[in-house]
Amino acid sequence: MTKVRVCEWVVTAIIAVHSLSARGQASTYNEPYRPQVHFSPRSNWTNDPNGLVYYRGEYHLFFQYNPFGDEWGHMSWGHAVSTDLLHWRELPVAIPEQNGIMIFTGSVVVDRTNSSGFCAPGGECLVAVYTGDGNTPEGHRETQNLAYSLDRGRTWTKYEKNPVLDLHLTDFRDPGVFWDEAARRWIMAVSLPKEHKVRLYSSTNLKDWTQLSDFGPAGDVVGVWECPNLLRVPSENGKESIWALKVGLNPGAPQGGSGEQYFFGSFDGKNFTASTEAGAHGWTNYGKDDYCAISYNGLPKGEKPVLIGWMNNWQYASKVPTQPWRGQMSLPRRLSFVRDAAGLALKQEPVVAPLRAKSFPLSWPSPSSSSRGESAEVPYELDLQFGHPSEPIFGVRLYSDEQHWTEIGFDTNKKEFYIDRTRSGTTVTADFPARTMAPLADGRPYDLRLIVDRSSVEAYAQNSTIAMTNLIYPLSTNSTIRLFPQDAKPPEFSGRVWELKSIWGQQSSNKQVGGR
Ligand code: FRU
Repeated sequence: MTKVRVCEWVVTAIIAVHSLSARGQASTYNEPYRPQVHFSPRSNWTNDPNGLVYYRGEYHLFFQYNPFGDEWGHMSWGHAVSTDLLHWRELPVAIPEQNGIMIFTGSVVVDRTNSSGFCAPGGECLVAVYTGDGNTPEGHRETQNLAYSLDRGRTWTKYEKNPVLDLHLTDFRDPGVFWDEAARRWIMAVSLPKEHKVRLYSSTNLKDWTQLSDFGPAGDVVGVWECPNLLRVPSENGKESIWALKVGLNPGAPQGGSGEQYFFGSFDGKNFTASTEAGAHGWTNYGKDDYCAISYNGLPKGEKPVLIGWMNNWQYASKVPTQPWRGQMSLPRRLSFVRDAAGLALKQEPVVAPLRAKSFPLSWPSPSSSSRGESAEVPYELDLQFGHPSEPIFGVRLYSDEQHWTEIGFDTNKKEFYIDRTRSGTTVTADFPARTMAPLADGRPYDLRLIVDRSSVEAYAQNSTIAMTNLIYPLSTNSTIRLFPQDAKPPEFSGRVWELKSIWGQQSSNKQVGGR
């Protein structure tokens, strides 16, 4: 065995032991602020979701993970699986850091024809395409690399001829790879962060890549560009489809820190061209806490794409007051597009309905009931439909006590939908308190769907064409819902609360397909 091999073996063994002890560590999934309907790792740090792939009845969620602590470092791919996108079972680290090369963000594809030659003859397998980040004799480098799994993602082997794409750059990362059915080849969208470009490549075997084109700079070009995702999005009724390119930028997003913009356009197998139609450029999320979202590969034909993001912001991610873990994912969202009088828009519908439990209607507050409000058990979902507004500013406040609340509302004077978390609880850092807003589109309804978890509020408004996700750290687990303004003439209104079952209490319902 060579010296390098021994060293690799020792690092792998240390990680294996460590993740075992992490598994052995008692976690109640009931610690303060522990998300009850969102995925979070049992312990330690996570950032971006990686390698989202559906394969043989399982949704895989790989994620940027530090096996050694609750701060960013030693980046490796953590791993969880689910059969319903909600109940997750965490598995050991899938792809560990090795020889000082960290495993940054990337994709997993199902290689159905063994185009890579990694699968058993005549068989299929999973191939991960990830960025290797670390020091080389040349200096600090980011390159694109492969690993493959012949056992449904349980164990991974790094390709011995890595890297497969090396531009000798310090910043070159986050390959989003998918199968282009029309051209029958693989496409990679990868970021040149400091140049604000997404570079497209093609390949027939995942090993040899040909440069196709560059997209950008375009739209918002502050900070760096990261985590590109090029995908086809169907219309609401599924009759047409359009291409969309999503790219993260950090720092300097409109709400401060990390944010994500999307472009609708066309992709001819070589170039992505942004559309100039109204609404063709927008923000995937108008809150502060949804970054590096990517979509699933391998979904059954006809299913709407599913997107998951990291529910955090680089401004304060290392300071959020949770332990023994730090970091959580957004709910999965099914994507489609809307084209109406206001133009194009991305529609995102959260996958949450299977968790619905007790439900009760909400009525507009009468002066007698107004001070009380309705109390609900966190986590819950709130669906509100307002007809023609009778007051210019209206919405809902979620109180954790009389001094602390989060306000979610429509301001028709400013033509804004907003979440104000300035009084929501623990403030984390000076960048944390915020009122985040999104422009209201004329003609779209004043409807609102909220998913309230122990440390977040996810909002979907105006036919789910606005998504706004914000972390909150309330000082108590009580939640009282009060609609406002309380003394107003009642608008046309209907509202319903659904208490949601915790995903952690239902482990047995997440039956695994096959072994471990
Ligand atoms: C985005 C990011 C990616 C990178 C990863 C490293 O949050 O900076 O560009 O691959 O995190 O953890």
